[in-house]
Amino acid sequence: MEEILSVVTNSERETMLVGEKLAKTVGKGVVFTLVGDLGAGKTHFVKGFVKGLGSDELVSSPTFTLLNVYENGLVPVYHFDMYRLSSKEEAEELGFNEYFDLKNLAGIVFVEWPEQVEGLINCSHIQIKIEKLDDNKRKITLSNVIGENK
Ligand SMILES: Nc1ncnc2c1ncn2[C@@H]1O[C@H](COP(=O)(O)OP(=O)(O)O)[C@@H](O)[C@H]1O
Ligand SMILES: [Mg+2]
Repeated sequence: MEEILSVVTNSERETMLVGEKLAKTVGKGVVFTLVGDLGAGKTHFVKGFVKGLGSDELVSSPTFTLLNVYENGLVPVYHFDMYRLSSKEEAEELGFNEYFDLKNLAGIVFVEWPEQVEGLINCSHIQIKIEKLDDNKRKITLSNVIGENK
């Protein structure tokens, strides 16, 4: 894993803006993992990203649905929350492995709580780590992770 960049935000709005700007630079076939505690800002990052793709859809946490899909923007976004899963096998039974086959990926994937499904995300991806520095301050670090089949 190699760090790409790190930025500190001072509000929910600023974190969304980072997501929004990132959306302007990537196309389909990209996977992002989101690492950080509950309330770090993972879902708000995705909110900004979806907005950056030109969609006005309401982004909410996929805690119970496991997967939310946003298709009104320039590129479809598949937003996972693996919090309620406890193994790679469980995710595979739900067919989620097909979202980590970059060549056949029709959109952009975000995964909250990738730790819950260790081994599932074996493709190259970008890890977004969000650390809570204080109530409104977050450190966001992007790193690239090279996968088994690139
Ligand atoms: N700099 C910041 N970036 C993102 N969220 C922030 C920030 N400061 C405060 N917050 C608050 O933290 C919470 C983040 O919630 P959410 O995005 O659902 O987190 P997660 O998905 O990581 O559990 C929101 O209530 C948001 O208003
Ligand atoms: Mg969340």
